[in-house]
Amino acid sequence: MNSLILNKLSLINYKNILSSDFELDSNINCFVGNNGVGKTNVLDSIYHLAMSKSYFHSLSSQTINHNAKFMLIEGDFTKGIKNENIICSLKKGQNKTLKRNGKIYKRFSDHIGLIPLVMISPYDRDLIQEGSSNRRKFTDNVISQTNKTYLTQIIKYQKILFQRNALLKFFKKKQTFDIDILKVYDNQLSELSIPIHNTRLDFFKNFVPVFIKRYNSISQNKETVNISYDSQLNFESLNNLLNNSLEKDRIVQYTSCGIHKDDLIFEIDKFPIKKFGSQGQQKTFLIALKLAQFDYLKTESNSSPILLLDDIFDKLDNNRVKQLIQLVNEDEFGQLFISDTDYNRTEKIISKIDSSYKMFKL
Ligand SMILES: Nc1ncnc2c1ncn2[C@@H]1O[C@H](COP(=O)(O)OP(=O)(O)OP(=O)(O)O)[C@@H](O)[C@H]1O
Ligand SMILES: [Mg+2]
Repeated sequence: MNSLILNKLSLINYKNILSSDFELDSNINCFVGNNGVGKTNVLDSIYHLAMSKSYFHSLSSQTINHNAKFMLIEGDFTKGIKNENIICSLKKGQNKTLKRNGKIYKRFSDHIGLIPLVMISPYDRDLIQEGSSNRRKFTDNVISQTNKTYLTQIIKYQKILFQRNALLKFFKKKQTFDIDILKVYDNQLSELSIPIHNTRLDFFKNFVPVFIKRYNSISQNKETVNISYDSQLNFESLNNLLNNSLEKDRIVQYTSCGIHKDDLIFEIDKFPIKKFGSQGQQKTFLIALKLAQFDYLKTESNSSPILLLDDIFDKLDNNRVKQLIQLVNEDEFGQLFISDTDYNRTEKIISKIDSSYKMFKL
């Protein structure tokens, strides 16, 4: 098992943080301060180094400080016995660059997986509350951190899907139609959908039991939960689906079926958690989901992922906080980053753990 440690983090003009260097503890790091000081921003900058983008928004330009012309995030990691220097930078009006040990990546996707990482944030509630794209993003994020082939396949699928949709719009606009051209895209999508669907099926077969175990240990078996993978391809091939929805697709001018419509069904005591779970149960569900992601990444990547816990102590009852801290106190966890508004509360909880830690006041 490789250890993975972020030793030093340097930020320049990253959102509201103009210039900061953090010499980090190899076990636990806490960022504390009032609302709006930049705690989440610091955690997000670490996410950026691993995933080459923000956890919260897709517009990279938003990461540059309002009054600056560029931003830079630099991290010095140790993975196993190797040092890894990662720099992510962006100049206004230009494309983002990502460097590993001085060498610029041609494709960001080549970087994904080098720094396995899990973020737990209050925004995760979107996974339960909002549309299916959030749940697909979660699925893709977990699988692609350890499966490059899958990552390449979904990028390719998205590209072809985009072209097929553009073609449907073109047909409508020009009042024309050519089934042969459309079929070229249909065949490519169908071909790609098979391995993607199979990878997702396989993934959930392993992932769901791990998730249930995690949930039970935080909630101490108070309720039963389940996740099922819902896909049109569970019942029919994409070729058939596309044929059957051709008329509809021509009218709505987009592709109404395929693996880009997959979803996850989250249940508590056999009912949808969105409607029937309490806030604390929903939060527990999300934390269990992320800890299962942690377990999965750890097994697949053979190194302990970095764990970012944003506002974690909020909204959880004392028992659940205790359980959670006990969990992350076990040897199996790697480096931990925690944010909270309350210095004393955080230090009180963390100092009980038998581990080194550093507190950073922002
Ligand atoms: N591009 C930017 N330039 C300057 N400031 C920015 C930029 N983007 C975000 N901010 C500022 O960053 C601050 C938010 O930081 P962040 O979300 O990290 O706060 P926080 O410490 O996590 O607060 P909370 O306790 O409320 O979660 C806000 O004041 C926001 O205006
Ligand atoms: Mg915050």
